Amino acid sequence: MQRRTFHKVLGSGLLVAASASLIRGYLFANDGALFASYEKALLTDAKGEPIRLSALSTEVPYVFYYPHVSTPCFLIKLPKPATQEVALTAASGETYLWKGGVGKEGKVVAFSAICSHALTHPNPEDSFITYIPKDGKTLAYEKGGVVVCSSHLSAFDPTQGAKNVAGEAKDPLASIVLEYDETNDKVYASGVLGVEMFHQYFRIFRPQLADRFQSARKAKQLVKISTATVALSEFSKEIIQY
Ligand code: FES
Repeated sequence: MQRRTFHKVLGSGLLVAASASLIRGYLFANDGALFASYEKALLTDAKGEPIRLSALSTEVPYVFYYPHVSTPCFLIKLPKPATQEVALTAASGETYLWKGGVGKEGKVVAFSAICSHALTHPNPEDSFITYIPKDGKTLAYEKGGVVVCSSHLSAFDPTQGAKNVAGEAKDPLASIVLEYDETNDKVYASGVLGVEMFHQYFRIFRPQLADRFQSARKAKQLVKISTATVALSEFSKEIIQY
């Protein structure tokens, strides 16, 4: 990996250090307000080995924690490249630009798995939010190929930056900024773009998170160095979808 770095200047003057050799992925909010940079973390498998994007199964939702050690995200390899920029608008009216998937074919995308409506998210017991394959069916939307939150039947289109396309959700799912190293097929998470729900998530689920991560303070810790990625079917005992 080439280590030379440059600084990418965002609209607001925010600077992001980036490797010139590997960046291909999401761009940032027009004014930086809906973008937050976090420590870059390598996505690994459960054993700590780097995952290779070419080895990911297509249309299988994977889960990893980022940017906090308790905030779940989806990693999905789509059936088709998602290489077009998409301008997204938050419920607040703020706009931002999503640049599409990463990987050799631009098929791999990542989003926060915390629903932007009322914070449904995968947990070890169950998940009411999942990706419905292209040929799958859901009550939430006219076709598959969407992330569906079955709590109140919201749907998000992962080919469009997880834009909310049906249901109660008024915001897209927040995008996880991925950096792809094409020299070795590894991928890193490095930021969050869009409306993140972490503050509310920590407040509302404080007892559960404190229980699962030893304390509420520990649940808020930021991911460092790497984060493990597992299939949603292994992460949650039961996946509920309508
Ligand atoms: S919590 Fe997801 S649709 Fe309501």
